[in-house]
Amino acid sequence: MEERKKYKVLSEKFELTAKTFHGLEKILASELKKIGATDIQILKRAVSFKGDLKMIYKSNYLTRTAISILLKIDSFKAESSDILYEKTKKIDWDKYIKLEETFVINSTVHSKVHTHSHFASLKVKDAIADFFIERFNKRPSIDTKTPDKKIHLHIKGDFCTIAIDTSGESLFKREYRRDTDIAPLNEVLAAGMIMLSDYKGIEYFYDPMCGSGTILIEAARIFMNIPAGYSRKKYGFMKFDNYDYRIWSTVKREAENEIKKDIDIKIIGTDISEKVIVTARRNIGNARLRHHIKIEIKDFISSRFENKKGLIITNPPYDIRLKSNNINKLYKDMGDTLKHGFKGWSAYIFSGNLDAIKHIGLKPSKKVLLYNGKIECKLLKYDVY
Ligand SMILES: C[S@@+](CC[C@H](N)C(=O)[O-])C[C@H]1O[C@@H](n2cnc3c(N)ncnc32)[C@H](O)[C@@H]1O
Repeated sequence: MEERKKYKVLSEKFELTAKTFHGLEKILASELKKIGATDIQILKRAVSFKGDLKMIYKSNYLTRTAISILLKIDSFKAESSDILYEKTKKIDWDKYIKLEETFVINSTVHSKVHTHSHFASLKVKDAIADFFIERFNKRPSIDTKTPDKKIHLHIKGDFCTIAIDTSGESLFKREYRRDTDIAPLNEVLAAGMIMLSDYKGIEYFYDPMCGSGTILIEAARIFMNIPAGYSRKKYGFMKFDNYDYRIWSTVKREAENEIKKDIDIKIIGTDISEKVIVTARRNIGNARLRHHIKIEIKDFISSRFENKKGLIITNPPYDIRLKSNNINKLYKDMGDTLKHGFKGWSAYIFSGNLDAIKHIGLKPSKKVLLYNGKIECKLLKYDVY
């Protein structure tokens, strides 16, 4: 009987949603397909899929372009906030939140019925609190900063979906980067940009404005098949009642057996700032990639890469968070450097300064719209002949 119950739990298929950034949905869908997820559907800044407990662990540990993996608890129609409250209170919340734990509600609302997302969140919070009070005379507390459980409310029209975050802290927190004194790129965006490029890992991979080294580290991890969560210790699902340490260990062991330790990769990073290179060196060390990534201090402008060919992916200053004396001139000089010093190379430039990027003076062969936080950005590909 016990065995049968256990089998049921292990083979249970969950309805899951992986959240991502605008523009990375297709890449995320292909990552999920590769690890065996089923019923994959592309949504807006998200991908829905189905999978068992092992898939929850795999999608958290392996996908490079997911920000979080949400597990559906319930969905229903609610034509008013009172119905939202009543239906939410019917859920067996003690299966998901323990009395001594803390929780938070995040909501996304696209609705004419429920016009204020904050109000809808409050209704769900009250319903959860009242569920516990009625049953246990006590209730778990709210913590908006470091909650044990994150509950997501998604409303489209009058259709509400309630989910629990299985990731905990966002998955871009890979934990190899501890220094954030410059304007570092989000790890999920960096990985997404590399996966959007057609780099095959044979020629040189170069970030000439590498900052804290995010693009270099994500590239090495992709080419060496190092799991996205390799340096991370904690995930939300570890606090779930159904957490199965044996399955989690298997996921990690299987993924780590696939790491290509002896692969010959040519990943190089340079930056004009000595301080930044010290930071990049530390982060590369944290990611245990010191033997695979070469970095040095160098002004990209007027530099050359003699007798070598490859791909550049870089994120120059935008002049929004990072001040540069003359941003348009910097972009013009970058274009000239590419033309004269990098013949035969392809370059992907990611920038949020859509005016400055016009000064590169080369015609892009590919354009992708992405967002860095709230900043509208473009990833532009240039083929240098
Ligand atoms: C937006 S930051 C890059 C952030 C990086 N992607 C990361 O994740 O940390 C831009 C970088 O360009 C560098 N930079 C600016 N002008 C440069 C130049 N002429 N040559 C090389 N690096 C330059 C800055 O020092 C800064 O580190």
